[in-house]
Amino acid sequence: MSRVYNFSAGPAVLPEEVLQEAADEMLDYRGSGMSVMEMSHRSKVYDNIIKEAEADLRELMNIPDNYKVLFLQGGASQFFAEVPMNLMKNRKAGYIITGQWAKKAFQEAKIYGEAVELASSADETFSYIPDCSDLPITDDMDYVYICENNTIYGTKYKKLPNTKGKLLVADVSSCFLSEPVDVTKYGVIYGGVQKNVGPAGVVIAIIREDLITDDVLPGTPTLLKWKTQADADSLYNTPPCYNIYICGKVFKWLKKMGGLSVMKERNEEKAKILYDFLDQSKLFKGTVRKEDRSLMNVPFVTGDKDLDAKFVAEAKEAGFENLKGHRTVGGMRASIYNAMPKEGVEKLVEFMKKFEEENA
Ligand SMILES: Cc1ncc(COP(=O)(O)O)c(C=O)c1O
Repeated sequence: MSRVYNFSAGPAVLPEEVLQEAADEMLDYRGSGMSVMEMSHRSKVYDNIIKEAEADLRELMNIPDNYKVLFLQGGASQFFAEVPMNLMKNRKAGYIITGQWAKKAFQEAKIYGEAVELASSADETFSYIPDCSDLPITDDMDYVYICENNTIYGTKYKKLPNTKGKLLVADVSSCFLSEPVDVTKYGVIYGGVQKNVGPAGVVIAIIREDLITDDVLPGTPTLLKWKTQADADSLYNTPPCYNIYICGKVFKWLKKMGGLSVMKERNEEKAKILYDFLDQSKLFKGTVRKEDRSLMNVPFVTGDKDLDAKFVAEAKEAGFENLKGHRTVGGMRASIYNAMPKEGVEKLVEFMKKFEEENA
């Protein structure tokens, strides 16, 4: 067996321990005589799996009792529509546009009501987080929406926007469980799990209880109404059972590692190795304003497209996979989620140094 250093933005690297444990349990889950893939979602065994996953997530994130945890399907992209369907009572909401995913959510909201652009960093290719201290938020807005970590551009909010008392809805797909969060500051926190948490196919949504009601936009499908899912503890229909089981294993791994404060320290340490190198390199440079840099996604360029391509190709040869930047930005991007070991980042930097010497 040989495993590469996988810098993919998602689906992304998972803890090896988790994969090994899942492999060991593949044919016979703890004496049940079957794989979790083959199990009824109504069985006692599966009920324990999903309940334990929720309990572990609640403990990790310190989720207050007045928040529901939902395990959903449809990806983050479907949730872009679920937000207005479930929350746009006045049919008006504010969106902060910090990249492609925020923009897609904004465009989706426009189908349902008036989505207002509160701020944007499009003027500088989304390389920074706009000033969010005094946004043009009006009283009739149902919520303020952000994408907290911008996977493609490598920016992250270091401070949440001043929402002037309005509900905050955040897409945390690419920073989920990478550091502690104060859940009470949000109305809704949600993310696709395929970056930091598990296999694609699950969205985890943490929603304040009072926001889960029957008062949704007309035409909202039963399955996309949060109340349907909340009333059934995410088992209204067949959930992505196996993927939730893997998420549960990742939660256990995170607890064993010491929880989210420890993950934050580890992530800061890993990101620093790469950013420090970029800051002194004569060949490579980071593309994001220093104060807004993400700990999870690190985009960089040489300034020469051909050299970028050569780097990506040679890195692949050397066992560093998926370093090509997003097709809309070019260059390179190293995604260094929780499960990327520090050693992977150190080795990447060593490789970059060597490449720099050879291509000076
Ligand atoms: C921040 C963010 N939001 C949303 C999405 C879309 O997720 P999905 O493919 O699950 O719809 C992505 C995917 O990469 C993302 O990075």
